[in-house]
Amino acid sequence: MPTADGPTTVTRYATLDDAEAITDYHHRCWLTTFATYVEGDVSGLAPQLDRWLERLAPESDFTTAIVAVEGKAIAHVTIRGNELVNLFVDPNHHRAGHGRTLLRVGERMLALAGHTDVELHTMVANEPAKALYTRFGWTITGEILDEVSGDLRWQESVLRKTLPPVGHVEANREHWDADAPNWVESGRRAWGDDPSWGEVGTPESELHLLSDIDGLDVIELGCGTGYLASWCLKAGAASVVGLDNSIAQLRTAQTLQTEFEQPFPLVWADAERSPFADGCCDLIISEYGSAIWCDPNVWIPEAARLLRPGGRLIFLGTSAVLSLCCGDFETDPTSTTLQRPQRNMLRFAWPDDDCVEYHTSHGDMIKILRGSRFVIDDLVELYSAADDDRPPAHFDREWAKSWPAEEIWVAHLPS
Ligand SMILES: C[S@@+](CC[C@H](N)C(=O)[O-])C[C@H]1O[C@@H](n2cnc3c(N)ncnc32)[C@H](O)[C@@H]1O
Repeated sequence: MPTADGPTTVTRYATLDDAEAITDYHHRCWLTTFATYVEGDVSGLAPQLDRWLERLAPESDFTTAIVAVEGKAIAHVTIRGNELVNLFVDPNHHRAGHGRTLLRVGERMLALAGHTDVELHTMVANEPAKALYTRFGWTITGEILDEVSGDLRWQESVLRKTLPPVGHVEANREHWDADAPNWVESGRRAWGDDPSWGEVGTPESELHLLSDIDGLDVIELGCGTGYLASWCLKAGAASVVGLDNSIAQLRTAQTLQTEFEQPFPLVWADAERSPFADGCCDLIISEYGSAIWCDPNVWIPEAARLLRPGGRLIFLGTSAVLSLCCGDFETDPTSTTLQRPQRNMLRFAWPDDDCVEYHTSHGDMIKILRGSRFVIDDLVELYSAADDDRPPAHFDREWAKSWPAEEIWVAHLPS
């Protein structure tokens, strides 16, 4: 999440180690900004380290996310129940966009905790905060009096908002339409490079997944910038069609088709409900497309519908073990301990992002594939090469030298 504070800025859950930094700017907010909003003298207020140690304790029912610059907390959002309890930014880091970022994160945390009708309180006199909240769709519904002690008091506005349910196709379309510009250059490189698989980058010359597709009709589900479809054409496919849910991604694919002089049809649609006829192709392929953005209980039966008898399905996504070991925030390090249960794992939504992903256990994926009549040919687990010293992908490359970060399922329908 780039901000004016630069690349060392990360958003993550707060831990007890952040208590002192939060207490420090929380206190400075009182002495500077809030002093003008309250009735009474704030100069005698003590910093509230104990309160933050309590709130950040693992057993606390408060959840706090922070923005940290070079490891140090400079802003936080705290929720409890259906309430957004706190949104504070260090006065030295105002006007860098952290309030907006953390308001989105806080709303997301409330939605992921299952709340739709949510509430927050802010000082009536705090016009900048009220302007931010109302811009984000919060409505002022009343006022209450708050008192720290008999001679320190202020009026609070009560604000409420109804959060929309997190629907994956629409949420992912919005996400990819906004994110598309960030994928143009990597897409361009992939169009020009020799084929390789995943962020790990295992060369096709090792895996031979496209070695016998001569004369096949191919559909790529969630084609994004379209490089995989272009590799299929170069590998001898009779035809390829790229389908994607994001019009902005398809515009990039179109631009790259022109640059590389390799046109093929592009279709704007949802891979869970494609507009194609039954039995229209021989190979369905996806690399981080429908493979992770669509519900496998829906898109895999849909792929079976599109394939002719004997047709093949190849898809690559995040490995099951990485889905269990990654943190909730994008910048969290990949852990060597499990971060969540495997039981019922399927739908993943994140506090720092507005998209929804799908990842299943191997057992569940076998059930889904077999339930759609597929015969499973292979499950290729991809590790980082021993000498891979590139910057992290959505996983740490050192981690991926010991555990597979990505996996490729290969299956076919009976003839
Ligand atoms: C990481 S990109 C991968 C695509 C391609 N391999 C690339 O890197 O350009 C993920 C793509 O999946 C698409 N996608 C997400 N949900 C989809 C859906 N329901 N149907 C079709 N495409 C979808 C997104 O719009 C995005 O272009």
